Amino acid sequence: MNKNDKQQLDNIAKEIENCKICKIGKSGKAVPGEGNPNADVVFIGEAPGKREAATGRPFIGRSGQLLRGLIREIGLDDEKDVYITSPVKYLPDRGTPTSQDIAHGRVHLMKQFAIIQPKVVVLLGRVAAEGVLEKKVKIASEHGQVIEGSFDDAQDKKNIKYFLTFHPAAALRFPNKYKLLLQKDFQKLKRFLL
Ligand code: URA
Repeated sequence: MNKNDKQQLDNIAKEIENCKICKIGKSGKAVPGEGNPNADVVFIGEAPGKREAATGRPFIGRSGQLLRGLIREIGLDDEKDVYITSPVKYLPDRGTPTSQDIAHGRVHLMKQFAIIQPKVVVLLGRVAAEGVLEKKVKIASEHGQVIEGSFDDAQDKKNIKYFLTFHPAAALRFPNKYKLLLQKDFQKLKRFLL
């Protein structure tokens, strides 16, 4: 592990903890993200839930258990190999983040990308996709696809591949509709990462 990158991510976590804009209309602990600071693969969700806001750790509730299980099924360690975070870093009072929350979260997220330098970013659901890509995305028709993109590094633009799929919460709410699709997308992701 690169100690410097870990230190830089810790500094961003402190920025998030002190960020007044992030906290508007939200509560609980900051959930900056967790995992390998040099991960090739980063998973992006929506916003922390109650369990995450109580502990400061991303994806540890029911959605998290599903996500972490899927990550392990494709041969990756959910704590050592990947980085997991969300565009919105605090629990929104209304449950769902506003478009302002998502747009602001991108500022912190891009700084995290610039340090981690991931090769593939998995966008879990519409909020992740729209927050990162800054355009309307229809997950129902675009899931399982790889999108070539870039993100702004301190010096230049870095190429990156985005992989679109459903948020695990969708598979928990509507298992008949989304669970198998989500599992199949993860198998596609596995083949893509080989
Ligand atoms: N859902 C998310 O999108 N992020 C979390 O951290 C937890 C649940």
